[in-house]
Amino acid sequence: MTNDMAPEEFRRAGHEIVDWIADYLANIREYPVLTARKPGDLIDALPAQAPETGEPIERILADFREQVMPSVTHWNHPRFHAYFSVSASGPGILGEMLTAALNVNGMIWKSCPAAVELEQVTMSWLRQWLRLPEEWFGQIYDTASVSSMHAVACAREQAFPEVRTEGGMRGAVAYTSEHSHSSIEKGCIALGVGQNNVRRIGSDADFRMKPEALEAAIRADLAAGLKPFFVTATVGTTSTSSIDPVPAIADIAERYKLWLHVDGAYGGSACVVPEFNHYLRGTERADSLVVNPHKWLFTPIDISTFFTRKPEILRQAFSLIPEYLRTAADPRALNLMDYGVQLGRRFRALKFWFVLRYFGHEGISHILREHVRMAAEFAGWVGGDERFELAAPHPFSLVCFRMKAGDEATKRLHQALDDSREAFLSHTVLNGRYTLRFAIGNIKTTDEDVAATWTLIQRLASEIIA
Ligand SMILES: Cc1ncc(COP(=O)(O)O)c(C=O)c1O
Repeated sequence: MTNDMAPEEFRRAGHEIVDWIADYLANIREYPVLTARKPGDLIDALPAQAPETGEPIERILADFREQVMPSVTHWNHPRFHAYFSVSASGPGILGEMLTAALNVNGMIWKSCPAAVELEQVTMSWLRQWLRLPEEWFGQIYDTASVSSMHAVACAREQAFPEVRTEGGMRGAVAYTSEHSHSSIEKGCIALGVGQNNVRRIGSDADFRMKPEALEAAIRADLAAGLKPFFVTATVGTTSTSSIDPVPAIADIAERYKLWLHVDGAYGGSACVVPEFNHYLRGTERADSLVVNPHKWLFTPIDISTFFTRKPEILRQAFSLIPEYLRTAADPRALNLMDYGVQLGRRFRALKFWFVLRYFGHEGISHILREHVRMAAEFAGWVGGDERFELAAPHPFSLVCFRMKAGDEATKRLHQALDDSREAFLSHTVLNGRYTLRFAIGNIKTTDEDVAATWTLIQRLASEIIA
């Protein structure tokens, strides 16, 4: 006798759900990418109070299909080209299901050796694909925002070790490019660096941080009696996917003893492909790197990998062992709670292990290459249409473009695309101009999808110009 769902009922509903998932993924093109629902529609459709007595699983599943699904934006749709388009994959979803079933907490080795050791195995595999030095230590957090915040914490521990006990960081200055992700600034806010002490360094015509401007800013801050301690370079910036000159930034970081963090949340994934690995050049001289498998390595959200060549500093920043979690010391029994702010940890490595093994290095490289090839083809079409202009180089699978007719026309095109619900693009502003972002990252996107979206864009642009 159990208070939980009976095994037979679990089996029946579980089979039904797996069938539903298989159909959903197979028929994904039949769904509109974007929902027609308005803000608050789902809240209004559901009861304001939780049920007093339990409900049958059939009713919950029916409401999932009829109420929840219509409010879903379909990230699985092959014509989802917004933000950084991401997708899970069959093996990743199956791994995630097992993680939920095992429900282990990998806070220390003893609490689940499998979670801790599979994390070390998969991080070592990824490190090798990225061609990072062997001594680099890798571990998993939830998001790049949290990974980068830990990089700032390491930098603080390195430059201001007294802050861990005394608090009150004063005079610390961090550097990042005007095109880096907002998470870098947020990490600095969270750790008490202060937003005013984050310098956003200017970039060149291709949106790459200018090393000479970085060095000038550091020198000015030193002359003012401040203490530069941290710099981020991005491999694949969010707006345009530009690649900062990591080797030149590494020179400066070494000269002024700054912690160098490389944000490869998006672009880092592509660097597992041998011919794209050069985009990481210089990272071997950095102190840390973030790469998000939930962005472009076909693993369900969330999983962000953080690598550092100074794990002892990360440990120094965060290790705090209460008696109730003390275990016998063993050099092979890693306690991951010592390497970050969180105690409890999901078994995220399992889904990643499924993905890495199912596709292998060749399989993943092939998909990534195809995405980059399709993006280049799309860029060729944009560049060949006199109504449009490309707005940035496209080293990876993101194409930035706009209408020559001006911002109003580009905004109207964007709205018309949203209204069509057939394809989803997002936007940015580059050099003061409204710019559309077309990103490929979905495992199901084909040449036909890309061509169909381009045909749609051309048709809507003609209507706008007419
Ligand atoms: C370059 C870069 N860094 C960091 C992030 C933040 O990622 P996360 O959502 O995992 O925190 C993003 C998100 O798009 C990004 O593009």
